Amino acid sequence: MPGAIYAEGLVKTFGKVRALDGVDLDVPEGTVLGLLGPNGAGKTTAVRVLTTLLRPDSGRAVVAGIDVLKHPNDVRHVIGLSGQFAAVDEYLTGRENLQMVGQLYQLSSRDAKARAAELLERFNLTEAGDRTAKTYSGGMRRRLDLAAALVVSPPVMFMDEPTTGLDPRNRQALWGIMQELVAGGTTLLLTTQYLEEADQLAHDICVVDHGRVIARGTSDQLKAQTGGERVEVVVHDRDHLGTATEVLRGFGKGGTSVESHTRKVTVPVTGGAKLLAEVIRELDARGIEIDDIGLRRPTLDDVFISLTGHAAEREAESDGEPEPVSGPGATTSDGEVAK
Ligand SMILES: Nc1ncnc2c1ncn2[C@@H]1O[C@H](COP(=O)(O)OP(=O)(O)OP(=O)(O)O)[C@@H](O)[C@H]1O
Ligand SMILES: [Mg+2]
Repeated sequence: MPGAIYAEGLVKTFGKVRALDGVDLDVPEGTVLGLLGPNGAGKTTAVRVLTTLLRPDSGRAVVAGIDVLKHPNDVRHVIGLSGQFAAVDEYLTGRENLQMVGQLYQLSSRDAKARAAELLERFNLTEAGDRTAKTYSGGMRRRLDLAAALVVSPPVMFMDEPTTGLDPRNRQALWGIMQELVAGGTTLLLTTQYLEEADQLAHDICVVDHGRVIARGTSDQLKAQTGGERVEVVVHDRDHLGTATEVLRGFGKGGTSVESHTRKVTVPVTGGAKLLAEVIRELDARGIEIDDIGLRRPTLDDVFISLTGHAAEREAESDGEPEPVSGPGATTSDGEVAK
């Protein structure tokens, strides 16, 4: 039986751009899917198709058992959406925005007020609640928009980059709220550019790039594929980058990557802190002075490097053409030091 969110062969083109190029998804009820990908990967397009805002060129989608293309109005009744760009009414106060959403969902006026007050509190907006939304900072708007998506708890929620622009404290708070929602039975599709976030929240992760799913699995499976943790070393002297790379390659479980402008070498490892001590000893024995060394978890870029052999491409702001993250001293994989 298909899950609460199901998609098969979704294709959506905009002129020459294949924003979705055959995407399949299947999210079991009561779980979280993290749709992870760089700018322009197709995340928002997928969310728009699944939430009935955009018709795909081909493919099929079913949400909460309802065919998205055949019965979009019925789908709208069972989903909640928090879009990438906050959709709040600037001329209403935060409280009024939330009350209005409650009333749209046919809560009684008293219930809508109570729910608005509760959400303002949870999103740290109580003090600002009676100011018009146009006086809000970006992060406050974002939180108001998220609160609006949670006025009623629909069985299926879509959140497009919910934590972008939130400070660490508010991000943590939102993670908690999302976890509670899911504990209450909601199915959640969440898009993000941060592996760490998908890691915290998602049962399953789909990595998308150029409209295609290039990897899927649990966070542990993805990390195993990308070689687990990384040792990252910043050498004091740029001339030592080559030797440091050689040393790290000896400890690594995959290709090294070098960023010459930050004098940083990174390599996937297994073995944790004990290995770190060995790396330090070896670097010291070779007379390499280091400014910083540490173990860190893989990032989206690491996933990309290990899956595709290159760093995630970011879309150029100006003309929409994809452009690799490069420039002087760009990241290169497999031991090449970029000049
Ligand atoms: N309405 C549109 N008209 C033309 N091109 C579009 C439109 N919407 C999206 N695209 C293109 O489709 C591709 C996927 O865009 P999408 O917004 O789905 O990416 P995304 O993964 O959400 O990226 P981001 O992380 O920047 O939000 C991009 O190349 C984008 O320029
Ligand atoms: Mg987007």
